[in-house]
Amino acid sequence: MGGIVFKGRDIISIRDFSGEELLYVLSIARRMEQRPQPALMKGRIMASMFFEPSTRTRLSFTAAMKRMGGDTIGFAKGEVTSTKKGETLWDTVKMIEAYSDVIVIRHSLEGAARLSAEAASIPVINAGDGTNQHPTQTMIDLYTIQKEIGKLDGITIGFLGDLKYGRTVHSLAIALSHFKAKMYFISPTALKMPEYYLDELEQKRVTFHETDDVLKALKHLDVLYVTRIQQERFADPLEYEKFKNVYKVGPDILNGAKKSLIVLHPLPRVGEIDPALDEFPNAAYFRQAANGIPVRQAVLSLVLGAVK
Ligand code: NCD
Repeated sequence: MGGIVFKGRDIISIRDFSGEELLYVLSIARRMEQRPQPALMKGRIMASMFFEPSTRTRLSFTAAMKRMGGDTIGFAKGEVTSTKKGETLWDTVKMIEAYSDVIVIRHSLEGAARLSAEAASIPVINAGDGTNQHPTQTMIDLYTIQKEIGKLDGITIGFLGDLKYGRTVHSLAIALSHFKAKMYFISPTALKMPEYYLDELEQKRVTFHETDDVLKALKHLDVLYVTRIQQERFADPLEYEKFKNVYKVGPDILNGAKKSLIVLHPLPRVGEIDPALDEFPNAAYFRQAANGIPVRQAVLSLVLGAVK
């Protein structure tokens, strides 16, 4: 596609990508899924710097790299690095860029990925920075919706749960604004979508509604995107206790929904989805997690200039 350049690029915020660029990433991911590339990353090293817990993101980035013949170095918690001795993030990144070809970073502070990208001359991929953004999860979510529903254009999506602190919701809502999606934001008032995201969506002329009742939105939805209440972001543990069990999605929700509804969740789930839902074809969250491999393969090989 003319004019789309990924080589050498950082993946920090979903705002940095046009709708056309996002579709391009999805097309490369589809290619990766159909035709695996076991030697594409031979001789390349990915460094993963994870200062916050992760299962899917870290391991699927690692598996994606290894399945393309590449290698990985890194750490799964900050305490084992010299940050513990007081080294700055900037200096840590300066070291790691000398040891690798691409950096994947997760950090609890908003803006940490952007700072790392300024420090590094190699591509930096944001694997989640605080409550801010998680752009590669969004690419996985888009890929899953496109694959399961057959399109992105004009879909109706309901975001359920912790919309205040959930970075995957923040990234996905902005991404779907390119595709004329209609949105329902379903949460307790205290955990609603931040005002500045709503302002941004309004400016992009997105149609959205806010409610605390999933049943009000359900019949309209093509996608129900469930999220956990983000315990680690609460300043007051008692506040978390108040909200931790507010929603529980089980097979009964399928009664009031379109037959074709898909339920997504970036995972981990901690009680907000009843495992009894898993056996229904509408439950797409494990397929969504599996899509992490081709999508992250696409992202890595694009920024390293291995595919065009
Ligand atoms: C999410 C995250 O880390 O933001 N997990 C993931 O990457 N799939 C969601 C979450 O932690 O709730």
